[in-house]
Parts: sequence; structure tokens; C-alpha cells
Amino acid sequence: MKTKTKSKKVNKNWLHDHINDPYVKAAQKDGYRARAAYKLKEIDEQLKLIHPGHTVVDLGCAPGAWSQYVRRRLSPGGAAAGQLNGRIISLDLLPMEPIEGVHYIQGDFREESVLTQLEEAMQGGKADVVISDMAPNLTGSASTDAARVAVLIEMAVDFALHNLKPEGVLVVKLFHGSGYNELVDLFKQTFKVVKPVKPKASRDRSTETFLVGVGLKSPV
Ligand SMILES: C[S@@+](CC[C@H](N)C(=O)[O-])C[C@H]1O[C@@H](n2cnc3c(N)ncnc32)[C@H](O)[C@@H]1O
Repeated sequence: MKTKTKSKKVNKNWLHDHINDPYVKAAQKDGYRARAAYKLKEIDEQLKLIHPGHTVVDLGCAPGAWSQYVRRRLSPGGAAAGQLNGRIISLDLLPMEPIEGVHYIQGDFREESVLTQLEEAMQGGKADVVISDMAPNLTGSASTDAARVAVLIEMAVDFALHNLKPEGVLVVKLFHGSGYNELVDLFKQTFKVVKPVKPKASRDRSTETFLVGVGLKSPV
């Protein structure tokens, strides 16, 4: 009984925070599907990663806010539709409402057949930027969750190694805690420059953070 009351209170607090969140309000005003768009926007504006003409791969794209942001970055004048200077290939386990000009693939990134579909969509070319906001469903067991996060990030690094241009960029979401230092080490082994970033749009109470790797040390 007590647990129910507590969880109701947590839900009420979450709802209150969500309604009053400036990024939620901005997303509604700017036509983004999720406040997550501003996390990528901040990272991009700080590090100048995405440019017109780029090929960008978005892993864990649903509901589509990051892809919407990239779409605007690759459009003349930042338009949400119309001319697109570059390519966007986006993947998620879940369905995603179409975004004009975005090549969307539904599937599990851990499956070989889905990787093949991604590589086919790239038509033999390499990506300038790979972004991954993939997050597994949490089980509540810290060690299981950390292991699942690690698998997705290790796979994203391996994908980047094989599919990024030599000076390309990988952005991944990860979480402070178990496994974090090992993933930073993996980034340092793989990329010439590694930057941890915690955008303001990422809530302070969340352990989520982002790692940016620039330039492959040993392109495949
Ligand atoms: C936080 S959401 C991404 C939000 C997105 N960046 C946006 O801006 O709308 C994380 C996504 O990762 C996806 N995901 C988790 N594991 C995945 C996997 N193995 N393959 C593909 N997508 C996965 C989930 O389905 C979920 O939609």
C-alpha cells in the first residue's frame, strides 16, 4: 500500500517537472517530437559536428527528435522539409512516424541482418557522423542494465570502426556507474579525440551523459 502511494507521488512529481520543463515547452514550440532534440543540438553547437553534405546514421532514433534535428541541420536555412543536402539513415526497434528525407529501418541493432540493412542503405559509402541514443529497457538490476548498455555501445563503436570516414564522429549516450570507465577506455583506444559531454538539456538527476569520439585511430 505504502509503495503505491509513494509511486503515485513520484509520478505526480515527474508530471509536474515535465509540464514545467523549458525543453518540453521548446520542443512543442519548435515541432520536435521529444526534448531529446536539445541534447544533440547542444552537443552539436558546442563541438560543430554535423554539417550540410554529411551522411549521418542515427541509432535508436524513435520517436525521431534527433533525426528531426539532423534533418534541419542538413537543410538550407534549417527547414524541416524540402531540400536536403546530405543523407540520414535512422534505425530503431520501434516504429517511427516518417520524417521527410530520412531513410528509416525498423530492427534490432544487435542483429546481423539489421546491420546488413544499415550497410546496404549506406550504398557502399561511409558516414561522417554516427549518433546513438540507444537505451535498453531497464530491468532494475544495476549489473544487468550496465551490461546491456555496454553491449549496445561496444556494438556502436564497432559499427563506427567499419562504417565511419577516417575523420568521422561517433556520439553515444551512456550512464555513469558500473562499466563507464571501461567504455571511456574503449573510446580512447578507438578515437583520436574523446570528449565527455553533459548537455544542460540532460536532467541533473539523471546519470546519463554523452561521449563524443572524433577521428578513428585505425580505420578499417
Ligand atoms: C531514448 S530513446 C531515443 C530517442 C531519440 N534519440 C529521439 O530523439 O527521439 C532510445 C531508443 O533506443 C531504442 N533501442 C534500444 N535498444 C535498441 C536496439 N537494440 N536496436 C535498435 N534500437 C534500440 C529504443 O527502442 C528507443 O526508441
